[in-house]
Amino acid sequence: MPEGALHTPLFTADQIRTRIRAMARDIERDYPPQEPLHLVAVLKGAFMFLSDLSRAMTRPVTLDFMAVSSYANGTRSSGEVRVIKDVDTSLHDRNVIIIEDIVDTGLTLAYLRDILRARSPKSLRAACLLSKPSRRLVDVVVDYIGFEIEDRFVVGYGLDHGEQFRHLPYIAVYE
Ligand code: IMP
Repeated sequence: MPEGALHTPLFTADQIRTRIRAMARDIERDYPPQEPLHLVAVLKGAFMFLSDLSRAMTRPVTLDFMAVSSYANGTRSSGEVRVIKDVDTSLHDRNVIIIEDIVDTGLTLAYLRDILRARSPKSLRAACLLSKPSRRLVDVVVDYIGFEIEDRFVVGYGLDHGEQFRHLPYIAVYE
């Protein structure tokens, strides 16, 4: 699909910016002042969200990245989660926040929560820009949600379809 064929943004760059600033405030309010946060972003989809969320924070923050495979290439979940890239540093005794682009079936986040919890962080939470509650297959805790959306496949702001559209500064429904 050529970029020009994308429909009107579901969320504009402005709406996303405003929401992420509010999320950063909500997150920071939940931890003691100046306590460092360790943000673990799930590649590739969360790269833009991480970039904006981390810059909206006003305390010491460290970053790390994981990559998992859950979707082969298209709009259907394979139901399988595999770690392709693990974090580089220890999570022990740190306030870890998993940064995800979107929670769909919840399988990826449930899996990540399990394996990261086993590494004895001081605390473990998850912040996701988007959530599709009607698609959930597992009951997973998402501590911070940017926007809840219907069961539509969305692209832009880090999210792809076949590796396209990640660079768009807004989120649009792919149809
Ligand atoms: P889950 O394991 O089913 O929750 O899927 C999580 C992953 O699926 C996300 O991190 C995305 O990479 C991908 N995904 C789910 N829904 C969408 C969508 O609407 N657009 C793009 N990617 C999606």
